[in-house]
Amino acid sequence: MTKSEAKNRIAKLKSEINRHRYNYHVLDQETLSPAALDALKNELFKLENTWPDLITPDSPTQRVAGKALSKFKKIKHERPMISLFDAFSESDMLAWEERNRNYLKNSSWLGRPFIYYGELKLDGLALSLKYEAGILVSGATRGNGLVGEDITNNIKTINSIPLNLPPPDLSACQKIGLEAKAATAILDLVKNGTVEIRGEAIMTKTVFAELNKKYQKSGQALLANTRNGVAGSLRQLDTKITAERKLDFYAYDLILGTASPSARNLLAEIGLAENVALLKTRAQADKLAGLLGFKTLKQNRVCVDLEAVIKFQKEVDTRRESLPFGIDGVVVKFNDLNFWSVLGIVGKAPRYMMAYKFSAEQATTKIQDVVWQVGRTGVLTPTAILEAVSVGGVTVGRATLHNLDEIRRLDLKINDTIVIERAGDVIPRVVKVLKNLRAGSEKNISVPSVCPRCEGRVEQVSGEVAYRCLNKNCYAVKLRQISHFVSKGALDLEGLGPKIIEKFLSEGLIKDAADLFYLKAEDLNGLPGFAEKKITNILTTIDEHRSLDLARFIYALGIRHVGETSAQKLADYFQFTEASISIAKLISRFQKLSKDELENLEDVGGIVAQSIQDFWRDQHNLILLEKMRAAGLRLKITPAINSKNSALKGKKFVLTGSLPGLTREEAKDRIKTVGGQVAESVSRETDFLIVGAEPGSKYEKAKKIGVKILVEAEFLKLLKQS
Ligand code: IVH
Repeated sequence: MTKSEAKNRIAKLKSEINRHRYNYHVLDQETLSPAALDALKNELFKLENTWPDLITPDSPTQRVAGKALSKFKKIKHERPMISLFDAFSESDMLAWEERNRNYLKNSSWLGRPFIYYGELKLDGLALSLKYEAGILVSGATRGNGLVGEDITNNIKTINSIPLNLPPPDLSACQKIGLEAKAATAILDLVKNGTVEIRGEAIMTKTVFAELNKKYQKSGQALLANTRNGVAGSLRQLDTKITAERKLDFYAYDLILGTASPSARNLLAEIGLAENVALLKTRAQADKLAGLLGFKTLKQNRVCVDLEAVIKFQKEVDTRRESLPFGIDGVVVKFNDLNFWSVLGIVGKAPRYMMAYKFSAEQATTKIQDVVWQVGRTGVLTPTAILEAVSVGGVTVGRATLHNLDEIRRLDLKINDTIVIERAGDVIPRVVKVLKNLRAGSEKNISVPSVCPRCEGRVEQVSGEVAYRCLNKNCYAVKLRQISHFVSKGALDLEGLGPKIIEKFLSEGLIKDAADLFYLKAEDLNGLPGFAEKKITNILTTIDEHRSLDLARFIYALGIRHVGETSAQKLADYFQFTEASISIAKLISRFQKLSKDELENLEDVGGIVAQSIQDFWRDQHNLILLEKMRAAGLRLKITPAINSKNSALKGKKFVLTGSLPGLTREEAKDRIKTVGGQVAESVSRETDFLIVGAEPGSKYEKAKKIGVKILVEAEFLKLLKQS
């Protein structure tokens, strides 16, 4: 990038960031997710780092957040409310520790152990509460860090904030490790001097849900998230509204201020200067806040080194869902408060603390190109090729775009700056185009006129947005079809992944799925990477699948719009009573099905019914089916599928973690056998969660919403009973 290009980009980034920041911090409206905004700020920061003379005083990188709302009186903070540096990965944390070691080089502090205090990073609104002679005198927001809004009256509606500080008794202070005289001095200070408590006002997830339910009923605007809920509630001139929002408050900092004359005498007596820290560690300060009547986080923990910090962050991340409030990471602080003064502040944040955030699940990047992939039904799906970017700790270079409609809806062009989002392990999707960042070099995206793989004719599917390659022998289509045929939910031919299928196809050993059943050892001999044992294993697996479960077979055929559940419903519909049937019989039953009959099936609409009918009349498909029949394929009917009186019929199951005795596919088969259904995610509709080792977030969710949880043994018992 040239300097003049950088200058243009910087100007555009600045105004875009400022716009979203204003909406968010001043108007309490989130028009871009915090993670995406962070990503833009990061890009700006990097550009400014490369060309420092392009930094201007109005750049968002140069200011501390916020702007006080004019409707409230202002309060000047005695000490600025600074912010925190962010880390997103273990390596960011290691780099932080390294920077601190470097900073302390040549000082005796380097020899001391770096012990940390890990705290939850609450996602709410920072508050500063001032107590004089034990009485709450003011409460303020952070504002711009130097001046905040006076929201004392609103703060007083928060029940977890004490209006006065009853000094704890001496023995309690000693229990938290304070020496008798230091404890006496602190107590005197609480009683007669000033104490400032900083912490986070939050809205619990339950309150948030209840309020939104209520607002929905009464047609009021809904709260976007808990953080916005807090900000909006506290910046209300009408304190009744604040009270209704049932906010909560957790303390995370305690500043012992000016000493009273009597406290001053006491301090002198024990040989301490007036402003010397009476508290030794952050852990002690946290406990003292607890003794003074504040809520503190029981999850906070002393971490003996950085390794322990990393473990703490991971543990918190896995339990995050089950917490009653939202958090966006942990805050890691030097536990020894002496380090705080030694390390000090750099720029806008302290060296002695770090926000170790959970990986952002959104990021911004640029779209370099769009490629079209050919699916198993020939449909062309656009995929965005991106400038590589890290999202949620994973580097991604592609995003799905679904179809041309999606491209039009987003008004997406090549070279656009976009916001992408990654949920779980799935490939990210484009959430939004930042059109204000366009520079004129953007290009329209068009559907290719011929198939990018076989150069066959491409046409729009009638009545749909999709475009399709019409060549039935298209290599890409074949590859996808066969890969689908052997995939987990279909035949589940273990050991035959897409790579092997691609090899067989490119070597001309197979042309379609039926050919797999005609493979012989001599065909595979000599293929690079195929030793005798591997060949035997593959052929045995294929042979074992000459007798197939009917529902799996229907799904494996890859009929458009027929997923695993519809395949199961179709299999059930025929009510075969035999133990197994021939492919010829299945063809004849399908061909006799009328469109009306099909449409009467649950979840089958006109388009699906048409697609099913088309499939069983298509000559090309009938030849393939005949080839399978001739290879000796038979279809197994699982008798219990028809058992109408199974107690588990229609019950919804979800699986998580690895089960000790069953593979996931085996567990799914057993559930289907008793007429149950398998879903991918836990919801209020879920009847049972089957949990194995190392379960995912489904486990936490199930616990939270009260879904019945079974381990494998209980699950097998349940199946037996039914
Ligand atoms: S210490 C120098 N501890 O995070 C700022 N902050 O991203 C001292 N926050 O404005 C903050 N939980 O509102 C600290 N346990 C915690 C926190 C915490 C949430 C917020 C705080 C701050 C923001 C910085």
